[in-house]
Amino acid sequence: MARIDLDLAHAYVPNPQRDEDYALLPLRFTFEDGGAYALLGPSGCGKTTLLNCVSGLLRPSQGTIHFDGKDVTAASPQARNIAQVFQFPVIYDTMTVGENLAFPLRNRGVPDAQVRERVGRVAEMLDLSSSLDRRASGLAADAKQKISLGRGLVRQDVSAILFDEPLTVIDPHLKWQLRRKLKEIHHEFRLTLIYVTHDQTEALTFADQVVVMSRGKAVQVGSADALFEKPAHTFVGHFIGSPGMNFLSAAWRDGAIEVQGDKSGRRYSPPLEGHVAAALQAAGTFRIGVRPEYLSLSNEADPLAMPVHVTRAQDIGTYWLVTATVEAGNDAVLRARLGTEAASLNAGDAAWLTVFNRHTCYYVNEELVQ
Ligand SMILES: Nc1ncnc2c1ncn2[C@@H]1O[C@H](COP(=O)(O)OP(=O)(O)OP(=O)(O)O)[C@@H](O)[C@H]1O
Ligand SMILES: [Mg+2]
Repeated sequence: MARIDLDLAHAYVPNPQRDEDYALLPLRFTFEDGGAYALLGPSGCGKTTLLNCVSGLLRPSQGTIHFDGKDVTAASPQARNIAQVFQFPVIYDTMTVGENLAFPLRNRGVPDAQVRERVGRVAEMLDLSSSLDRRASGLAADAKQKISLGRGLVRQDVSAILFDEPLTVIDPHLKWQLRRKLKEIHHEFRLTLIYVTHDQTEALTFADQVVVMSRGKAVQVGSADALFEKPAHTFVGHFIGSPGMNFLSAAWRDGAIEVQGDKSGRRYSPPLEGHVAAALQAAGTFRIGVRPEYLSLSNEADPLAMPVHVTRAQDIGTYWLVTATVEAGNDAVLRARLGTEAASLNAGDAAWLTVFNRHTCYYVNEELVQ
């Protein structure tokens, strides 16, 4: 396994000039040896481009890649000793399941006894033990993809294993199992794993560190907890969470916060750290970010509560999802995940929501003030 240092950029077009010309904007990043990473972001943000630069399928148009301090920028995937699992299964139909799993090892002249041991172990982990002698051609797509995963995992000598949306063809229940399996495998083998997905649940359950990408940029790298509690950028707040973070436009007025569209005329004075207050005052206008989980139902007596119009109250089973707009027809929408206290709410009701608490985040130019 290897520590992977990136200091690169990539443009598919020659002579890139503007940011839009880059599939990957200049990026410096280290994948630590033995870490489990996810690259998470919407379609087209550059996940596959980044992964292919790591594997060596693509040479970045600028910069370098080092594996354990060695410059591998010009090295092929073989020379980098990378295993890559793609979105669709890549297996040999004419071989049995066992032969498919053994192939990457046989190819490298690993002794038979060791091949058997390793194939047995990986097959067991992926619940493929009973089909080792079956021909791969007759298997369903998800079983084939399990073999592809197994072929990635079977080698112990690789620098890293890269997965590019490997569970797309797998049905939801099995997906959940395989994700857990990959995590177990990571704990057992301590492999450097990099996993590309646009599914936040997949990224957050699989990886210790999630790299959130947007338009060619890594906007935040962090644990699931950090991405949830302190999104560094409004994009991360939106993208992570279900539903995502709520945002309200606000201004600093006479030492307090005024929320745009809030016709109650209230000024809010939540406890703020000195440097946060100073940054908001300096900026003048900013955005308030609060997760649906951290909004609570309150009343007028609460000086940190804001009056809202309920537009919808849905019973989701384990919680109530209440959608509301800030008083007086402002189009800022708040979504709140509430308990049974929300059961009596109906569309058209007036209510008070506490927006300010210790979880509330503040953004100037889309960046978290911290
Ligand atoms: N071979 C290529 N030639 C030119 N442009 C490309 C090529 N591959 C990707 N791009 C462009 O580079 C950008 C990043 O693409 P990339 O495939 O890395 O995104 P992605 O995050 O993997 O998306 P998806 O989730 O759809 O797989 C996109 O704008 C895409 O259109
Ligand atoms: Mg992709």
